[in-house]
Amino acid sequence: MTSYKELGLVNTVELFKKAISGGYALPAYNFNNMEQLQAIIEACVETKSPVILQVSSGARKYANRNLLKNMAKGAVEFAHELGHDIPIVLHLDHGDTFELCVDCIETGFSSVMIDGSHFPYDENVALTRKVCEYAHSRKDYVTVEGELGVLAGVEDEVSAEKSHYTQPAEVEDFVKKTGVDSLAISIGTSHGRAKFKPEQCKRENGILIPPPLRFDILEEVEKRIPGYPIVLHGSSSVPIEYVQMIEKYGGKLSDSVGIPEEQLRKAAKSAVCKINIDSDGRLAMTAIIRKVLTEKPDEFDPRKILGPARDELKKLYTHKNINVLGSANRA
Ligand code: G3H
Ligand code: 13P
Ligand code: ZN
Repeated sequence: MTSYKELGLVNTVELFKKAISGGYALPAYNFNNMEQLQAIIEACVETKSPVILQVSSGARKYANRNLLKNMAKGAVEFAHELGHDIPIVLHLDHGDTFELCVDCIETGFSSVMIDGSHFPYDENVALTRKVCEYAHSRKDYVTVEGELGVLAGVEDEVSAEKSHYTQPAEVEDFVKKTGVDSLAISIGTSHGRAKFKPEQCKRENGILIPPPLRFDILEEVEKRIPGYPIVLHGSSSVPIEYVQMIEKYGGKLSDSVGIPEEQLRKAAKSAVCKINIDSDGRLAMTAIIRKVLTEKPDEFDPRKILGPARDELKKLYTHKNINVLGSANRA
């Protein structure tokens, strides 16, 4: 059993309070390997931003749970060595079972998500409450994120009747019954690089313009649970430059479309205090790796291939912290 405090990590309680009162959101960046982690830490230290390091169950399988835990400990030491101690949270992304949440908590996570959003309401309440009871009773309080409403997938209809947007009428009851520390809601974001079907978008100069997020739902949620921390998943912007670079160097990513940065900036100023970004990092890495491999066919040193990808990732996260989330200079 390892407590997150032994690793130098923090939970989200104080960070979310400050984010809500300060009108910004914390970056929640996923990592699976060393280069991604290096880029996140360097960008967040240089911009003086607190950060949530997100690990999915897929990442744990890919990288090994012990290795990941020690990488998070290494991240704390790396930030210190870079000259500025930023608050670092180690968070389970989309935990799907009580047992997985327990395993993460026992191996040093300071925060977990239990995603019961696909279950009927009462089952979601029961599962989320069970995880909260466990996490909150640890000697060092572990924070829990729940989810209400299902993010639209490309297969779903983004129309009021058929969508699974969060129903504001449920949030108060959910938070009260579960004791959950933060809540992910569905207001039109979704996972991956193709967040809307082309027919749901307008097309300008061949570029897809997505429908706006449902800020009316967010406002209604804020009215019902004032000052409560809200989380947005599926918040990559899918930068067109990366999509075009990937396609230029042989990739195929048709109909890619993300959430415009101005809308995320607006959300970050509200009760949204955690914004999840994974796909944009994947796009940045893939674009640069394809470019390097095409332009330097004789290169076979992974450091010369992954190094430039890491530099691009750092640039991307720096931009997000300063211009999108507003988290720079908050640590
Ligand atoms: O929301 C999911 C994250 O992007 C993590 O993705 O499960 O492929 O690691 P993953
Ligand atoms: P994106 O696919 O938009 O990056 O969303 C990531 C996410 O929500 C991780 O939980
Ligand atoms: Zn997510």
